[in-house]
Amino acid sequence: MSETCQTNGYDTVHAVDFYHSMTQIPGFLQDAAVYLDGYRKTLQLQTTKKRPFVVLDVCTGTGRVIRDLVAHLSEHDADLHATKFIGLDISRPMLDQAAKLPLASPTADVTWIEGSALNLHEVPAFRDGVLKADLLIVAFSSISHFIEPGQVAQFLREVARVLQPGTGRAYISLRDIPATFQSDMAPAEGDTNSTDLPSLVLPGITYRQIGNDVQVKDGVVYVVSNVQVMSGKGDTLSTESATTAFRILGDDELRTLASSVGLDVMETVKAGEETYYVFQSP
Ligand SMILES: C[S@@+](CC[C@H](N)C(=O)[O-])C[C@H]1O[C@@H](n2cnc3c(N)ncnc32)[C@H](O)[C@@H]1O
Repeated sequence: MSETCQTNGYDTVHAVDFYHSMTQIPGFLQDAAVYLDGYRKTLQLQTTKKRPFVVLDVCTGTGRVIRDLVAHLSEHDADLHATKFIGLDISRPMLDQAAKLPLASPTADVTWIEGSALNLHEVPAFRDGVLKADLLIVAFSSISHFIEPGQVAQFLREVARVLQPGTGRAYISLRDIPATFQSDMAPAEGDTNSTDLPSLVLPGITYRQIGNDVQVKDGVVYVVSNVQVMSGKGDTLSTESATTAFRILGDDELRTLASSVGLDVMETVKAGEETYYVFQSP
């Protein structure tokens, strides 16, 4: 009998690795072009080249967005080496995996920092108020993880605090959470069509999703997902039982909360399943 590990989807070695392997499936996420475009547009707004351009990827996870940006910029763009990338996450196992994964340009200035999106101004890099984020990214609807009352407002207040006034831009992605989990993102209990997902990092390990249950309570969607960790011989080594929670957040609510903390919506971009809100702090 193999053991079952309870996880929030982001806090065990295998949950992190499953998440990472899933997000690397070609076409699973289609946000790289949006953030590259955001980088270029925001860079053009800068009035000085005397300091580095700061990209803060909040809820960075395994650093997917920063790695994608570095990969694109290392091919085409001299501004890569004038850019300081900071990936922040609350989960140490996510950051440990981020730090292990190779960058297209090993000399890029990338730092992985453990900290909370709800307390950005307490993160040492931003604490004295001198460093500001020129481009702040919150990808893959990670804002939906702020499920407690008041947390989305608190997070937006922190964004307004650390964003470079005037020329800085925050790209915040939002998904229609109920629609996402009604779709075929994950198999339901008893679904035999699930395919095994090989780990991209751990040799010989494969993941098999064996069940998925979605419940909604007080405006929060709880997704329970069971994933078997399989050895190369097909033995089940353990089962990750992940309960991940997502607040249902609508366009009106996000705009109202942002406006209440002084963030202006400059633009919205719709691509794939996500809407990207581009905010400015005046
Ligand atoms: C959906 S994943 C997104 C990861 C990555 N940005 C991507 O797009 O692949 C959400 C991430 O948010 C992180 N997270 C959740 N609450 C957080 C908080 N309060 N502060 C910082 N990170 C948080 C989780 O640990 C997880 O890595």
